[in-house]
Amino acid sequence: MTDVWARKSIVELVAEAAHAGVDAEVRPLRRTLSALNLVTLGVGGVIGAGIFVLTGHAAAANAGPAVTLSFALGAVACGFAGLCYAEMASTVPISGSAYTYAYATLGELMAWIIGWDLILEYAVGAITVAIGWSGYAVSLAKDFGLNPPAQFVSAPLAYDPAQHAWSATGAILNVPAVAVIVVITTLLVIGIRESARFNDFIVAVKLTVIFLFIIFAAHAFSTANWVTAANPDGRFIPPNAGTGVYGWSGVIRGAAVVFFAYIGFDAVSTAAQEANTPNRDMPIGILGSLVICTMLYVAVAFVLTGIVPYDRLNVPDPIAVGIDAAGIGWLAPLIKLGIVLGLTSVILVMLLAQPRIFRAMAHDGLLPPAAAKIHPRFHTPHVSTIGSGAIVAVLAGLLPIGLVGELVSIGTLFAFAAVSVGTLVLRIADPALQRPFRAPLIWIVAPAGAATSIFLMLGLPVDTWLRLAVWLAIGLAIYFAYGAKHSRLARAAG
Ligand code: ALA
Repeated sequence: MTDVWARKSIVELVAEAAHAGVDAEVRPLRRTLSALNLVTLGVGGVIGAGIFVLTGHAAAANAGPAVTLSFALGAVACGFAGLCYAEMASTVPISGSAYTYAYATLGELMAWIIGWDLILEYAVGAITVAIGWSGYAVSLAKDFGLNPPAQFVSAPLAYDPAQHAWSATGAILNVPAVAVIVVITTLLVIGIRESARFNDFIVAVKLTVIFLFIIFAAHAFSTANWVTAANPDGRFIPPNAGTGVYGWSGVIRGAAVVFFAYIGFDAVSTAAQEANTPNRDMPIGILGSLVICTMLYVAVAFVLTGIVPYDRLNVPDPIAVGIDAAGIGWLAPLIKLGIVLGLTSVILVMLLAQPRIFRAMAHDGLLPPAAAKIHPRFHTPHVSTIGSGAIVAVLAGLLPIGLVGELVSIGTLFAFAAVSVGTLVLRIADPALQRPFRAPLIWIVAPAGAATSIFLMLGLPVDTWLRLAVWLAIGLAIYFAYGAKHSRLARAAG
């Protein structure tokens, strides 16, 4: 039996990262990504359902026009964790990301727990966004006069959280959700460079659409739109009407809701072994994408709540409502297309991250060795890519969206907290270690990263916490049944 607190040697990890190309046992991933590729990977993975959908909900229900502040607050919380990710990713540029950092700082059991937890961020994240993608793609198809049969474009299963009960909807399969996963999985198997190029293209379209919205809608901006029945004086922060409903508490609740919009910048760290110059470029990719997305989010939220009174924004397509209100309806099909493409790159980045974490876990013996295999020609982790793609495709075809979204946020926040703690632990345990990027004021940044993540987790419903607990319990059972016995570290020690 392994020592569950055993840590991976940081010296070996650094060597492993440096020699990733000549590992005798495991074929290398291919180093082809530039700093710009990494930034676009981050932007591709971040901008999606969060800004295009949740902004409206958070403005209407929680923060009013001050949803702009919610986005800024969300960025601060992510910024602390982002600085820690940047330090760890530049120091230990291994594709396992938070899982690997935990292995070097908090020990094997915590590493397994974080690795298992990251499935909630990446695989469940991909499921959530694929279901959202299907909704937007079908609506776009309808705009072009196509009418796909309802039983093939929605989930066959429904879940009622009030009754904790499942039911059948009569639908057969959410075919578009399955199809988008299959196509993206195929692309990811074929190559990292091809995937990155496709992502670059999508990010260019996505950014164009956002700029068009900001530029063409700005003329209709008026603080008169801040006036609603609940906010007769038209204040930027509407008067508080209960916990989490307007006022500062609403701004904070809004930040927890829109946190989902920021998820994905950390996925950049899973491409560490495919970056040309990881020590320098990992922080650029992680922090650069976070800064760009924050600026765009704040701008979109500010413009949107300035062109439509926020109480009209609690709809699945708030940007479309804004476009109509600003009298620029001609932009609508373009925006919808941009959103469909935008969600495509989020799925791509999540499905890129997941198998790389599985690969790292398999490399360490915590998952079966097949998951670490690299394709001889494509140089991608094809077994774990196809495996994760298949499971994600099936679940995206069957599940309703409401069940999965908050699980993604809680799973991600848990990993952020662990990385923040781990970064500080490593500073204490190994102060002399060469760190190409050092997070400033680590004694403030790391505790703040952990505290803000836990604070945002506390804002999520009890049901979501229960699901996280069940998920981690399943993970522990698997660890003791398999990982603890097959761990490379255990075998080396025993
Ligand atoms: N940040 C990603 C999105 O908003 C998950 O879709």
